[in-house]
Amino acid sequence: MPVALFNPAAPLEPLDAQLRAAVSDVLDRKQYVLGPEVHAFEDEFAAWHGAKHAVGVANGTEAITIALRALGVGPGDEVVVPSFTFYASAEAIPPTGATPVFCDVDPQTYLVTADSVKAALTPRTKAVVAVHLFGNVAPVDEIAALGVPVLEDAAQATGSRTTDGRFTGTLGAIGTFSFYPSKNLGAFGDGGAIVTSDDALADRVRSLRFHGSRDKVTYEEVGYNSRLDEIQAAILRVQLPHLQAWCSRRRQAGAWYVEAGLGEHVDLPVPAVGADPAWNLFVVAHDRADALRDALNAAGIGARDYYRQPVHEQQAMRPWPATVPLPGTAQAAARHLAIPMGAHLERRDVDEVVAAIADARLD
Ligand SMILES: Cc1ncc(COP(=O)(O)O)c(C=O)c1O
Repeated sequence: MPVALFNPAAPLEPLDAQLRAAVSDVLDRKQYVLGPEVHAFEDEFAAWHGAKHAVGVANGTEAITIALRALGVGPGDEVVVPSFTFYASAEAIPPTGATPVFCDVDPQTYLVTADSVKAALTPRTKAVVAVHLFGNVAPVDEIAALGVPVLEDAAQATGSRTTDGRFTGTLGAIGTFSFYPSKNLGAFGDGGAIVTSDDALADRVRSLRFHGSRDKVTYEEVGYNSRLDEIQAAILRVQLPHLQAWCSRRRQAGAWYVEAGLGEHVDLPVPAVGADPAWNLFVVAHDRADALRDALNAAGIGARDYYRQPVHEQQAMRPWPATVPLPGTAQAAARHLAIPMGAHLERRDVDEVVAAIADARLD
């Protein structure tokens, strides 16, 4: 029986009528930009997180650029960012005028650590982008204790939390989210949000997403045209009440993989200390990751690598070569492999995947 790598459409099937009605309401209202749906979603998304403010933006990449700008990042500054992440985490930095400085990750958690960030700090460091990669939870408290503001890139971690009940995106100064369709909370197109409990940061973010204007007639600074649109907000509002249940299912699927003995065949992703991940991707590691991927795909099991070439090695990043050694990054890049994960997985799917990995006999 084939098992897909992910299947964002499956959990939405029972919501089909509601989703169509929500879109239809927007069409009837004919207000498409920064209207009641976006405002309501912002309030609901902030409340869901126990945060004071959420601001809808066009996507998770611009969310990072705008949040960095709100933190005061600009030309001459440095921003520390992991090299083992989706490219956008780093790509979002140069548009602020600042320089990305790549730091290492722990290849077991795939996350930055306080030590890896510390190694990359210089007197010019203005902020750290702590990526909650794959839904794992980066140690934001420890990084913030280094005395530098932390932007959490929670694009892959909507609904992940700490074991003491705080959600990703609320742990640092400011958090950014992506609603790309395959995320834990996905729109039917692009979308993003910025979450903060700091009034001044929220105010600046609201201005920056609308061309650097508070009143739409005077322009204080060069900003962005970066808004979540009404249709996407309406779609997200239908889904938000189900996010907690979907995250529980992701946690359950992760637990089933462990119970089913997956750890006998591959290295399991390790939740960081104090992390309760709502896995967006379940990423194992193996010395022969490509051979395992090919064997799984041949057996009808979704499996793929994401970041074989880490960000600092990408052509576009050549102006900013690595300044510290990145051995954890090299290891994670070479060995990682995503296997099926999502709210749609049943125990039998997980057993099927584990059996196919055992059958590949690569250990
Ligand atoms: C870690 C990470 N950061 C940032 C982004 C950018 O989000 P978007 O695609 O909404 O621009 C993504 C999206 O895949 C991501 O995975």
